[in-house]
Amino acid sequence: MPGSKTRPKERLAELRDLIRHHDRCYYLNDRPEITDQEYDKLYAELVGIETQHPEWITPDSPSQRVAGAPAEAFEKVAHRQPMLSLQNSYSIEDIDAFEERLRKELKDQAPETMEYFCEPKFDGLAIELVYEDGLLTRAITRGDGNVGEDVTQNVKTIRSVPLQISEAPKLFEIRGEIVMLKEDFRRLNEAQQEAGEVPFANPRNAAAGTIRQLDSRIAASRPLRLFTYAPGTIEGVRFESQHEFETTAGKWSLPTVGVAAENESFAEFEARLNSILQSERKAPHVSSLGLARICRGATEAKAYYSFIQSVRGRLPFDIDGVVIKVNRFRLQDDLGFVARSPRWATAAKFPPEQAQTVIEAINIQVGRTGALTPVAVMRPVKVGGVTITNATLHNQSEIDRKDIRVGDTVVIQRAGDVIPEVVEVVADKRLPNSQPFVISNICPACGESAEKPEGEVILRCVNPGCPAILRESLKHFVARRAMNIEGLGDKQIDALVAAELVKRPSDLYRLRAGDILSLERQGEKSATNLIESIQASRKTQLARVIYAMGIRFVGEATAKSLAKFYRTLEQFIGASEESLMQVPDIGEKVAQTILTALRGPYLKKELQRLVENGVEIEAVSQNAGHSQTLAGKKFVITGTLPMGRDEIKDLIEASGGIILSGVSKKTDFLLAGEEAGSKLQKATELGVAILDWDAFQKMLKDAPLTT
Ligand code: IVH
Repeated sequence: MPGSKTRPKERLAELRDLIRHHDRCYYLNDRPEITDQEYDKLYAELVGIETQHPEWITPDSPSQRVAGAPAEAFEKVAHRQPMLSLQNSYSIEDIDAFEERLRKELKDQAPETMEYFCEPKFDGLAIELVYEDGLLTRAITRGDGNVGEDVTQNVKTIRSVPLQISEAPKLFEIRGEIVMLKEDFRRLNEAQQEAGEVPFANPRNAAAGTIRQLDSRIAASRPLRLFTYAPGTIEGVRFESQHEFETTAGKWSLPTVGVAAENESFAEFEARLNSILQSERKAPHVSSLGLARICRGATEAKAYYSFIQSVRGRLPFDIDGVVIKVNRFRLQDDLGFVARSPRWATAAKFPPEQAQTVIEAINIQVGRTGALTPVAVMRPVKVGGVTITNATLHNQSEIDRKDIRVGDTVVIQRAGDVIPEVVEVVADKRLPNSQPFVISNICPACGESAEKPEGEVILRCVNPGCPAILRESLKHFVARRAMNIEGLGDKQIDALVAAELVKRPSDLYRLRAGDILSLERQGEKSATNLIESIQASRKTQLARVIYAMGIRFVGEATAKSLAKFYRTLEQFIGASEESLMQVPDIGEKVAQTILTALRGPYLKKELQRLVENGVEIEAVSQNAGHSQTLAGKKFVITGTLPMGRDEIKDLIEASGGIILSGVSKKTDFLLAGEEAGSKLQKATELGVAILDWDAFQKMLKDAPLTT
């Protein structure tokens, strides 16, 4: 074929292999070999070929990770073999008792020293993946153990989960745990908070909430991981041991915590992990951690338990104990089950990092978006080495669910090593005269009444003049990642608001040194410094300005997407609903919120005031932000479409596409709206790929998966 080195079908196979390889590098090994842009380019090329040849799309193509429309409900699916639970033990001595039972059961066949396979007990949710002829066909939650829910579409969005395993036998079922890494959890919660949403209590809740999303696009946007730990039904190959199973699973690109080398002594194991976990600040390359290992006898299993407990806080994911399994499958079969648990395994749990204390008060904090959040103020107590005094109670329904009252003695724990959480009330320590706590619908900061929008659980103060909202908005506005005004601390912000020198963020750009000097405890030096840093922040980027406005749901990433898309403040101010829906990662809810804000009395004016007061926004260059998903692709547009022609042209060009006026053999795509006429006919005759509006939107939106 002239002009092309490889035929499209071969190129497609090559692209799929390349993308799978880079997915593994990025998600399994945490060692990317190419930039995000280079990855996007490969992906766009793949989608381009598949759009032209939909008949070539296969279920294991990387493009199939993101599904279309949200599901109505999850289908219930039976497990071929029930997913059982583990017997829990809560003290290290129970490991001796476990070995004692094994010896009794196995009588004469027990070898001198029991061989165990030991690994962490992940604190996530159990899942079963079914590979048939090497293809991932189903992912089913544990459910009641017999019947779970089909969450395949969501599990497919986890990039470290292979969609296809070429080495796998005819039927290959594996079990594992879905978790969210602590670092990913921290970032997700930051974004939730920025968006004025209720943060997740811990990584497990975040993972569970994500896997049960009916809209797989939400699952795709949240970083989940899988750890493989057990076989289900397997036909066509036999594994001798848990060790062999996990080592092989790892070789076949299934994510695991990695198995330590067989000849590594326990002392070497400890030394190696101590050094990895000390030196790596960011989540280490999990599957090469080699956290799972064979332990010989209860003594070594107990040492494993103690060692893992000592590094627990430094692991990149939450665990709540270790699982000790008889290594040989033949012995496992001999041992069998009692009730719903295998005799061949035990979960040795760690004592929770919990403590009891008394709630002295429940304060209501007013957030930047007006959200009223109840916060428990507690008698200071140490949990896992950290003194805790405050814990968020989230909202009224959380307070009701746990029936938390002022004066109550409560059990608290640190969830995911970050946010302290009230677990429960100690019922028999409740004071006789205690009253249920109800959040007043009067804003504690301004005295106006707060509202609870329908379908939401959070009360919000809607008074635009509320000083608490203003203070919080200003703190957000000046933050390093927003307008980056150095040296303007919380105390000064409070003073500026109290003195009514600042009534809205744009007023900061009208301050003079004299204004600051008029505040209490402000010297000349600090006044000039502050004016200088305000001055320095004037030259800025559009993404920062959009982010700084604190629009609900618009965190840093969304602000960047908006800036890339609109390029100038004027275009952003004039955004239409249709164009907002074209911005990567923006769905209807966010688009509506932005639109309402832009049409409201405040946002547009405030943005204009910033410019009037001397904020200069650098223009975003023509192609800067858009991943060049349509690079070089030739488009012809025809018929009536839901968006203006010029706007569509801008969109295509911004993604690297080219607009042609007439259909020819060289045309890659015809975008055909309603009442398309001769162009459509010609394109059909020439075999040019035809896109309707939905397909076009999908093409623009789905391609840059990494943004
Ligand atoms: S093996 C027969 N290994 O613990 C069950 N389970 O109480 C064999 N879990 O629902 C399970 N980490 O969600 C196994 N390394 C691990 C595990 C693990 C966590 C969970 C799993 C299961 C529960 C059983």
